Amino acid sequence: MMALSRRGFLAGAGTALLAARAPGLALARDARATAGGVIDLVAGPSRAPIGAADALPSNLWTYNASAPGPEIRVTRGARVRVRLTNRLEEPTSVHWHGLRLANAMDGVAGLTQAPIAPGETFAYDFVAPDAGTYWYHAHNKSWNQVARGLYGALIVEEEVPAFPPERDLTLMLDDWVVGDDGRLDLASLGSLMDWSHAGRLGNRVTVNGRVDPLLTVPADMPCRLRLINASNARIFALDPNRFDARVLAYDGQALPEPVRLAYAPLLLGPAQRVDLLVVPEAGTQIPLEDVSGAAPLPLARIRAGEPPDAPAERAGEVPVVRPNPLPEPDLASARTVRLRMTGGAMRPIGPVTYRGEEMRGGDFRRTRQAWAFNGVANMPETPLFAARRGETIVLETVNETAFIHAMHVHGHHFRILQRSGSDIDEGRPWRDTFLIGPDQTTRIAFVADNPGKWLYHCHMLEHAAAGMTTWFDVS
Ligand code: C2O
Ligand code: CU
Repeated sequence: MMALSRRGFLAGAGTALLAARAPGLALARDARATAGGVIDLVAGPSRAPIGAADALPSNLWTYNASAPGPEIRVTRGARVRVRLTNRLEEPTSVHWHGLRLANAMDGVAGLTQAPIAPGETFAYDFVAPDAGTYWYHAHNKSWNQVARGLYGALIVEEEVPAFPPERDLTLMLDDWVVGDDGRLDLASLGSLMDWSHAGRLGNRVTVNGRVDPLLTVPADMPCRLRLINASNARIFALDPNRFDARVLAYDGQALPEPVRLAYAPLLLGPAQRVDLLVVPEAGTQIPLEDVSGAAPLPLARIRAGEPPDAPAERAGEVPVVRPNPLPEPDLASARTVRLRMTGGAMRPIGPVTYRGEEMRGGDFRRTRQAWAFNGVANMPETPLFAARRGETIVLETVNETAFIHAMHVHGHHFRILQRSGSDIDEGRPWRDTFLIGPDQTTRIAFVADNPGKWLYHCHMLEHAAAGMTTWFDVS
């Protein structure tokens, strides 16, 4: 990952990250789904503070009146039923990011379902096949709806949870654009500048809705920290070695064993997740920080509380998190599909097709589109590729833009085979979202085994809206 050119990242990361400190807050764990029950999610406007309980309320859009929305926890293999009620003034839908679920439940408005109109409800009903750290978020005008707060964590536990609840923490990272009064800056939503550059980058970073919260875990015990980046466009830079952490999982998929990274920083792009294993020593605090700037930016603090009473529980062995059985790509028989990314500020885009029409220059700029995949801005009429079910696809993505991107495949996890210009041995981890730097080519492989129409898009949500969205078909 180090080989990514950090240009696009640094361009935004240095600007005005105002880390106003809030008093330590113990964050309540959200309600679980009752077994077999239906979880009610209500998407609607709510007035909530950003960053600290005593901040001025902002006009947010949230699930069940909080951002993040309620954490949904289910067990691997469980049927998940969610009734979404839309109390917004515009249509919406919910995407279950990273889950290999049935296509009709993928929540992509306009592709896998009709947008849910204001006042309507929609019944999501699917099976969560893999244990791990996932999340859910709005998938209609995501650049707007997610920026206003429509997201939450979706945790799929192992049949017997590897870590007990007090040692299994979810940390949802977000960045917000707030004005001088600390309220969400609504006027800047949809800025064309953001759409054609590095996306909407906030000036206030929160974890679980709070600035630099203090979370407490039992001392001297292995703990799992599930980090989820819910930002529209911000890439966080972490250095797990600073607090002796090991990586348990990327994008929900457990590694064969916990890994100490031989490089830094670990970049966590929009929509990406990383599970870290930490053992906080009694009397200490782990500062979780973004290390991209000249001075580290505090994200959250993990405080070691009392050691557990029962001596038998102390210095517990590291729980084993077994990898999910995912279909291994068959590279010998794979078909390679290429995707050229062009456009954005500072680079030519070439002739572009948008909504079936070939365009150039001013006409194209008036569409608010700024990027293209293989010369097409936004959803092409025909898929990027049509796969036979079970076929291995090698997707070769060539980034000819001046920016870094966070590419996400719906409905499938893939292995990263190769990144040009990188000599880091990442061990080909499974992921559902990968970062790709300017002028970099990345090859990923997966078995297209999930029938339906799936998106492949940049998860910098402004980029997705401004052209970086395509789809593929598995039949
Ligand atoms: Cu989380 Cu189409 O994305
Ligand atoms: Cu992008």
